[in-house]
Amino acid sequence: MKKILITGGAGFIGSHVVRRFVNKYPEYQIFNLDALTYAGNLENIKDIENKENYTFVKGDIVDENFINELFKLHDFDGVLHLAAESHVDRSIEDPLAFVKTNVIGTMNLLNAAKNSWKNNFEGKRFYHISTDEVYGSLGAEGLFTEKTPYDPNSPYSASKASSDHFVRAYGETYGLPYVLTNCSNNYGSYHFPEKLIPLFINNIINNKSLPVYGDGNYTRDWLFVEDHAIAIDLVFHEGKNHETYNIGGFNEWKNIDLVKLLCTIMDGKLEREKGTSEKLITYVKDRPGHDLRYAIDASKINKELGWKPSVTFEEGLEKTINWYLNNQEWLQNVTSGSYKDYYQKQYS
Ligand code: NAD
Ligand code: TYD
Repeated sequence: MKKILITGGAGFIGSHVVRRFVNKYPEYQIFNLDALTYAGNLENIKDIENKENYTFVKGDIVDENFINELFKLHDFDGVLHLAAESHVDRSIEDPLAFVKTNVIGTMNLLNAAKNSWKNNFEGKRFYHISTDEVYGSLGAEGLFTEKTPYDPNSPYSASKASSDHFVRAYGETYGLPYVLTNCSNNYGSYHFPEKLIPLFINNIINNKSLPVYGDGNYTRDWLFVEDHAIAIDLVFHEGKNHETYNIGGFNEWKNIDLVKLLCTIMDGKLEREKGTSEKLITYVKDRPGHDLRYAIDASKINKELGWKPSVTFEEGLEKTINWYLNNQEWLQNVTSGSYKDYYQKQYS
């Protein structure tokens, strides 16, 4: 039985990856390591917590001794590393927290994997999950390819860029078998309502204002989170060692157009008069260092591994909005903070 460590599995993307791996690979023993920061929520993976091939481990990747002991205890065959501080606005307030988790935490995992595998890399793999934000900002034209030079602008993207560099360096220097992916903005269920789409859905439900940064003419490429999980599964199993793959939705939206679309759909779902939600849009002070445009050329993963998004944006957004409307208790638990009690109840 293969032992696989997934870090950050109580977070947004990690929970989808853990669910997929636990259900699809009963022959793997899946360990979900998560510190349960504000972004980690065990309610995100309630449906699989009693599966035989699943173990939750509460712990901090910044704690070097703990990580070393964990690798000694379990001798993992593979690592999928998603744990991170992930919100740009928080990185502007507290950059050091991002260096600790995203850089030092990744270093601890790299060292533990390298030491535990002792140069016998047969059947081993370290998969680092990263972001397209490491490439910086595009102008009106062009796409990020795997060859685009790194040019991060926020403390978040700088910390992710740094961790990406260390992963590559461990591949070059120590021969560590790694794969790395850089993905565009995800959306879907279990997304913490501080990021654009879940925040705005929650605010529309509660008739709260929709704070659009600057003039709203910033562009992001949006990918349905379950399609990201499918891509991660594929890269983990079939990606080539020491390779990077860009993952994207072929789906660019200006923030303001996306927000208006959300407003229209939500008016319909909530049976409110057309135009009601748009009245909630409020232009607010811009984010410092705000990247103008991200857009991904995902042709390499398409050509080499046959991956492409399985749902259109319309389908993905419909599923996402329905999920938040049907799971308002989850939203309330997250916004009130009471989701934190779940760990106590479940594991004390
Ligand atoms: P998230 O913030 O929703 O979840 C992060 C998880 O990591 C949480 O469960 C949190 O408790 C855990 N964590 C944080 N610090 C930790 C620590 N020190 N030790 C152990 N666990 C810790 O993040 P997400 O949106 O699911 O992103 C997951 C990964 O994917 C990140 O590496 C992020 O950079 C990358 N990514 C995200 C997006 C996106 O649109 N959300 C896009 C591309 C790449
Ligand atoms: P976000 O979801 O924070 O993702 P990222 O910054 O990683 O792309 O933001 C997506 C876009 O939406 C980004 O251009 C910033 C903008 N934004 C707002 O206009 N208002 C908000 O309240 C938030 C959270 C984001």
